[in-house]
Amino acid sequence: MNIIKVKDQQMGGKEAFNLVKADIENGAKVLGLATGSSPITLYNEMTSSDIDFSNMTSVNLDEYVGLEADNEQSYHYFMNEHLFSKKPFKNSYVPDGSNPDAEAATKAYDKIIEDNPIDLQILGIGRNGHIGFNEPGSPFDGKTRKVGLTESTIEANTRFFDDEKDVPRFAYSMGIGSIMKAKKIVLLAYGENKADAIAATVDGPVTEDCPASALQNHPDVTIIVDEAAASKLK
Ligand code: GLP
Repeated sequence: MNIIKVKDQQMGGKEAFNLVKADIENGAKVLGLATGSSPITLYNEMTSSDIDFSNMTSVNLDEYVGLEADNEQSYHYFMNEHLFSKKPFKNSYVPDGSNPDAEAATKAYDKIIEDNPIDLQILGIGRNGHIGFNEPGSPFDGKTRKVGLTESTIEANTRFFDDEKDVPRFAYSMGIGSIMKAKKIVLLAYGENKADAIAATVDGPVTEDCPASALQNHPDVTIIVDEAAASKLK
């Protein structure tokens, strides 16, 4: 794993952008994208760049079950607001959280992933080491599925909702098996509350207890961290 330490999230966005840009110059056509606060500075760099994404495809990691795309708390909405409205892609895919039929929604998404092999996958990380919404215990060979969110994830996501009761309890998430098929992976983590997860990801055993530790088995992973998130690394 390649670790890049940066001063702050601003610089992290610039470093990540340089990796995305280089990959596009090398022919990348499909970006795997993530939500959460960590990728926002990267998306700001992308929107203020002169790169044209209109020939590219994006595939997002996850979406809350039960939220329509136009719901302000949905990941669809987040992606439109931070990236797609300013830099449209040819096709942008996010799991369909409005589809109550989990079997159909997840199968359809696996087909999308299969048809659009991901060149570069952007990841954030949860405090418990989750990637996408693959919580601890998720199978490393998993495909897209409906997942229940842990209490710690619900609590962490409460900041985006008016009331904890409004945080959805389920999501459709790309599986770790699909994430691992991306040719390159760039994981972004900032702040002290990510330090344990980053240490477990990089220095800990490869175990389903820390979903991101699966990345130790991937040949091309870059982790961009600030001092605080890196503070527990060996
Ligand atoms: C959510 C998302 C993850 C994201 C995580 C961390 O759980 N499903 O994809 O990595 O939040 O978010 P943040 O970057 O805001 O800390």
